[in-house]
Amino acid sequence: QELSRKDRLLRVLSLAKSWFQDQLRSSVGVEALNYLMKTRQLNKGTIDSFELGYAPQSWDGLITYMNHVESISSELLVEAGLVVPRKSENGFYDRFRNRLIVPINDRQGRVIGFGGRSLDGSDPKYLNSPETELFEKGKHLFGLDKAANAIRKADKAIVVEGYFDVIALHSAGINNSVAALGTALSSQQIKQLCRCSDSKRIILNFDTDSAGIRAANRAIGEVEHLAMQGQLELRILQLPSSKDPDEYLQDHSDLDYKVLADNSPLWLDWQIDQILKDSDLSKADHFQRAVSGLVQLLGKLPQSALRSHYLQKVAELLSGGQARLALQLEEDLRNQI
Ligand code: GTP
Ligand code: MN
Ligand code: MN
Ligand code: MN
Ligand code: MN
Repeated sequence: QELSRKDRLLRVLSLAKSWFQDQLRSSVGVEALNYLMKTRQLNKGTIDSFELGYAPQSWDGLITYMNHVESISSELLVEAGLVVPRKSENGFYDRFRNRLIVPINDRQGRVIGFGGRSLDGSDPKYLNSPETELFEKGKHLFGLDKAANAIRKADKAIVVEGYFDVIALHSAGINNSVAALGTALSSQQIKQLCRCSDSKRIILNFDTDSAGIRAANRAIGEVEHLAMQGQLELRILQLPSSKDPDEYLQDHSDLDYKVLADNSPLWLDWQIDQILKDSDLSKADHFQRAVSGLVQLLGKLPQSALRSHYLQKVAELLSGGQARLALQLEEDLRNQI
């Protein structure tokens, strides 16, 4: 029986995954395995469960294996995103070379693409499979196949930036975590997570650098209309003193992490804090910027108890000489309607 085009691609990707795993365990993979176990502190169980692999330092290791052992054409390997046609001459070369390989699965646990981390400091740090008909980055979440049950059980999902953040969290027993695939978190991805959690609780835990803060704000923008209607409980976790969850777990316990996650602020509180934290409201320009930021933010809320609550909150934050901001804010909001 003829396999469909999609089934053929899935089969090729699965064969490649196994080959990368074999390389990690062979003599060419010694350094890569050492990196995983020593530098990243991962044990064999985690390496197996995430099916991590290694792409050797070679232009045609995978091509040769696929062509000669599995009788798979180079053209099909190109379609699967595993090899690249040479520009000037005939022939092909392996896309992933001297990289750690992280298989990316769909919701059912079938591999649809790979992330490859460089091991020698070369750029880019992460090289991912190109988009294919199977691998659409905005549609999938790394780790969801392994996280879905835990999300259901904990009734909340944690979204992080990187593959290794997910791997570190799962290895610490925090299995309700997933990552977006190097792109902005889409509303489609958030809706997938909501389907797993009855209470629709999502915690965004992006890196503490400015890129992470931007990514959090963008993700909020994608779903704030749902959050404002109470269709989703969105919290923002910013870790103290660590760049990302993987780093945090190197010197903190899973319990420390859970306490921070459970106490992370709701998205509106977090955004209000973001607006106010670097403002010196005695300065006219800061004051102006804070008012317009807060008007823009709170103005999106429907007239409701929630809006009153946040007006009250801002007033309290600003109490003691700063009440004029609250007054200004109320007036601006009133004029806006
Ligand atoms: P580690 O150093 O391995 O811990 O990396 P990280 O996951 O902390 O990296 P970073 O915070 O820079 O990036 C988070 C995620 O963004 C990665 O897991 C990738 O999915 C993606 N990413 C990072 N760097 C690149 C890059 O150079 N190219 C692409 N396409 N994606 C990247
Ligand atoms: Mn980066
Ligand atoms: Mn980052
Ligand atoms: Mn990071
Ligand atoms: Mn990291």
